[in-house]
Amino acid sequence: MQITVVNHPLVQHKLALMREADVSTNKFRLLTEELARLLAYEATRDLPLEDVTINGWCGEVAVKKIKGKKLTVVPILRAGLGMLNGVLDLVPSAKISVVGLARDEETLQPVPYFEKFVGDLEDRLALIIDPMLATGGSLVATIDMLKRNGCKEIVAIVMVAAPEGVKLVNEQHPDVQIVTASLDSHLNEQGYIIPGLGDAGDKIFGTI
Ligand code: URA
Repeated sequence: MQITVVNHPLVQHKLALMREADVSTNKFRLLTEELARLLAYEATRDLPLEDVTINGWCGEVAVKKIKGKKLTVVPILRAGLGMLNGVLDLVPSAKISVVGLARDEETLQPVPYFEKFVGDLEDRLALIIDPMLATGGSLVATIDMLKRNGCKEIVAIVMVAAPEGVKLVNEQHPDVQIVTASLDSHLNEQGYIIPGLGDAGDKIFGTI
């Protein structure tokens, strides 16, 4: 199973603040950004490095730099947008690909209504961002779309994951790593993660 639960104290503390029932929109939005930044730090842990020599203050210094790996950050509309700035703080030159999915009310399957991918997807690591991994349908659909467009290396960053969603993603795309702050208990009948955060999109955008 390719799931990393980030147990760093700052991650767990920020997630705890987000779980408060009366958290304000402002605070939730800020915490989403901060948590995304910390999770992105973990998600980029395996970026390849190369040895280079630079001119330092005392002459030549052997240092390590990221080996020209191209990235694309992929927010899933709309809640994924709340995590975007946090991730871009760490990888400011990453290009952004955007996916929008709507649920077909008959089949209950996610249907893309918007997709705009950057070029050279075959050479890029894609960091998909979506706060909540619930049933996994949207994440699987997004991974399908990225792979159809040539992407070979994908990491999903989610703030909270449900076992049901993790299972589906692992079954359909075992090569995709999931980085999260918490693997929660289960989904309720309405498809909300328990204990979860409630509707993350509504809390980020203030549409409660
Ligand atoms: N989407 C959310 O925003 N919250 C959930 O608990 C599940 C899906």
